[in-house]
Amino acid sequence: MCGIIGYIGKNVEENLFEGLKRLEYRGYDSAGMTVMRNGNFDTYKSVGEVDNLKAKLKFNEEFGYGIAHTRWATHGKITIENCHPHFSSNGNIAIVHNGIIDNFEDLKIQLQAKDKCFVSQTDSEVVAKLLDKLNVNNLRRVLKQIKGSYALVLLSKEKDCLYFAKNKSPLYVGKGDDCVMVASDPSCFAGKIDRYYQLKDGEYGKISLKSLVFYDKNDEIIEKTQESLDFNFISEDKSGYDHFMIKEIYQSRIALENIIAKFQTPELESKLKELKKLMFDRIYLVGCGTAYHAGLIGQSYIRAECNIDTFCEVASEFKEKNFVIDENSLCIFISQSGETADTLSALEYCKQKNAHIIAITNTEYSTIAKKADINFPTCAGQEKAVASTKAYFAQCVMLYLIISYLKGKNNVEKLKLFKNQIDFGDDKALKNLAEIVSKYDKIFFIGRGIDYITAEEASLKLKEITYIFSSALPSGELKHGTLALVDESVLVIVIATDEKLFNKTLNNAYEIKSRGGKLVLFTQLNVDREVAKNFEMVFKVGLTQQDFYPMQIILPLQKLAYFTAVKKGINPDKPRNLAKSVTVE
Ligand code: G6P
Repeated sequence: MCGIIGYIGKNVEENLFEGLKRLEYRGYDSAGMTVMRNGNFDTYKSVGEVDNLKAKLKFNEEFGYGIAHTRWATHGKITIENCHPHFSSNGNIAIVHNGIIDNFEDLKIQLQAKDKCFVSQTDSEVVAKLLDKLNVNNLRRVLKQIKGSYALVLLSKEKDCLYFAKNKSPLYVGKGDDCVMVASDPSCFAGKIDRYYQLKDGEYGKISLKSLVFYDKNDEIIEKTQESLDFNFISEDKSGYDHFMIKEIYQSRIALENIIAKFQTPELESKLKELKKLMFDRIYLVGCGTAYHAGLIGQSYIRAECNIDTFCEVASEFKEKNFVIDENSLCIFISQSGETADTLSALEYCKQKNAHIIAITNTEYSTIAKKADINFPTCAGQEKAVASTKAYFAQCVMLYLIISYLKGKNNVEKLKLFKNQIDFGDDKALKNLAEIVSKYDKIFFIGRGIDYITAEEASLKLKEITYIFSSALPSGELKHGTLALVDESVLVIVIATDEKLFNKTLNNAYEIKSRGGKLVLFTQLNVDREVAKNFEMVFKVGLTQQDFYPMQIILPLQKLAYFTAVKKGINPDKPRNLAKSVTVE
């Protein structure tokens, strides 16, 4: 959701470009950069992926100052005019922004009345137009005028430093011996700076090679402590795979190994003991997209194991549901990035109500991880592809282990066995199926019980990266409406891993077949020949223990989405209109 970066040092263009590549998961609608040397600005802008900017850049090894931006459009179309950086009216100040300035329309009207001209339709440009001269006092004045979410980096032709500010959007500051950086994500620092400061809401400051000053929201100078960067987390290349997505699907096994190892550390054990001591009589699980589906899997584990009221809700709806939340509530927030604005906002709401806050994140330095009372890391390593795969797998495993622990069970041994049983599915069969799927423009996924949750996640994966309309529903619900859409133009993917629900699910599948719909079955159960005849394809995965059916069956379904995207010529790592870290509500 927009990535921003500032840099002071040598090779400015190269370092900013590398940083933008690492931030590209935050949006890739357009990219831009302004570099200052000897009081002059050089600005480069391009529409589309960050790589499009490369051809325009004039790389220069000399020392300089720069800021850069990769955009996920919120206000204004995807055009060069709307590319960041944006400039003050006198052209002396350049800014990059991540977030939304909620009161930008009012400010724009006031500024236009003062003859300030705008070149873009963005909300961000008001920040630049509020400034003519850049210093701490003027930045402070602007921060008091703007409302909303922002991470800002500002550059002036007249200054040998960068200014920065943060509210609700993440921002990190790193200072090395011969360079400094400010960025939306500390992964930009990898290879250059190994320690960083994380800004809190309302904080701002300025940084040069010689000095670094932080102010808090009360305008007091503050000391901050540094944290060290975990280089192991950062994934730089595709390791021989064609795309990050397929690499990351296969990394689910490594994620599992990491979680097993983590579970045996004193650090995790003490977190679990802390959790066990808490008193609560209700549990809420909250997340967005794929993380929400992991929450649903967690909910079904809790309901199966514990006699406790448990609810799972999408983060953007959570506050509207008037749930009873108090000091007797345990609220579990699930997020790969740990920065999703809707999830963060729900977390803050629960915090105000004195609930116990647990986070399950894949990014230990993230805001959600830091704001939780206890953070359980999913240890999956950095995920680059926009569609979440290994993180979902790891979230489900982590929830499973936590819930087992609360019930006094240590299921690590079971997981070790699962690690050796994981079946990613036969590529040839999945590619054949992808060929079939790619010809449809309407696909339904159905399942019962926990298989319905997998159906939701499989459907999300497919629509995210193939742009085929798809929808998931409980098999039993078909006859209450959706069956009206079924004819020979519809493909239905049936997920049936639960033996006791198998026959009922089959009956629903036959209702589709009777109406001309085509069927595909995903299962790990043995299917007799007569039953198999009803399906275009029966896709069977290897046997696992029942606890792990959802984690097992999702893997070939993720691969099916991947192969279908490739078949359709779509880059599965960067689906249109989406971003990986969504830092606006
Ligand atoms: C975006 C991504 C999804 C992801 C969701 C939640 O929509 O495109 O892949 O599941 O955000 O992200 P989080 O980082 O909170 O898990």
